[in-house]
Amino acid sequence: MKRLAVIGDPVGHSLSPLIHMTWIDALRLEASYESIRVPAGETAAALDDFEQQEFQGLNVTLPHKQAVLAKVTETSDAVEAIGAANTLSRLPRGGWRADNTDAPGLLTALARIGLSDFSDKTVLMLGAGGAARAGLFALDRAGAKIILLNRTVEKAEQIITECCSRAHVSGPLGTLQEHADHADLIINTTSAGHGGAHIPLPDGEGRLFYDMSYGTPAEAQLAHAKAQGWQTEDGLGMLVGQAAESFSIWFDGVRPDIEIALTACRTSLE
Ligand code: ATR
Repeated sequence: MKRLAVIGDPVGHSLSPLIHMTWIDALRLEASYESIRVPAGETAAALDDFEQQEFQGLNVTLPHKQAVLAKVTETSDAVEAIGAANTLSRLPRGGWRADNTDAPGLLTALARIGLSDFSDKTVLMLGAGGAARAGLFALDRAGAKIILLNRTVEKAEQIITECCSRAHVSGPLGTLQEHADHADLIINTTSAGHGGAHIPLPDGEGRLFYDMSYGTPAEAQLAHAKAQGWQTEDGLGMLVGQAAESFSIWFDGVRPDIEIALTACRTSLE
């Protein structure tokens, strides 16, 4: 029996148990996936504890995504560049390896809606927090030209330096209207919608507006984008995409069915 879990605080809202149990059941695997609350400051002790209890894999959410890095034995290149991990797997010799599957998860979500070649694409990204880092890393390596706008412009400049291998444009969120004309798509990583607010958008002319949020926090922004003529997509595709990458790490490369997990998530949020 493979023991898996998501750790965080809060963690009760996490859709990860639903997603992974959907795949475990569908593939009839001998595995369990729990949701475990681990308060801030207890990361290192919890990882020791989970190792002793023979957990093989963990998803990591707030507030542990950076804190786990002080404790793990191995890190992927993506973790190094992004500065955060969301997936841990136990190493055969003991200790944990850290991966970040948010970056490939975003590319999976975009590929699912027909976007996989970024070599001639300009992506306008909004926000420079934790979620933006994974998106930047993924799209930079996929060859996109990125315009990164953030309320606090210094943070945008900083994460471009830290997460990207090439130079991109950064600026204040207030310049969105002028930059939007040059963009093939917009990716919103800000948490502006969590308070019910939305970032005003110009005419979308059928282009894609991808929001990394989903459920109620995404509603106001997506409704506005739609009204402005953008094709809209919420962040559930990325959530399921990152879960699929974690699943594949834990189950020796098995690629689970994205659509059944997306359907399960949409049903549970209804
Ligand atoms: P996450 O880890 O989800 O990315 P975060 O690290 O707290 O969360 O980052 C939140 C992002 O949303 C930041 O880019 C923040 O802008 P600042 O860097 O200027 O703080 C952005 N954000 C939050 N509320 C916003 C609002 N009302 N309008 C515009 N941007 C907002």
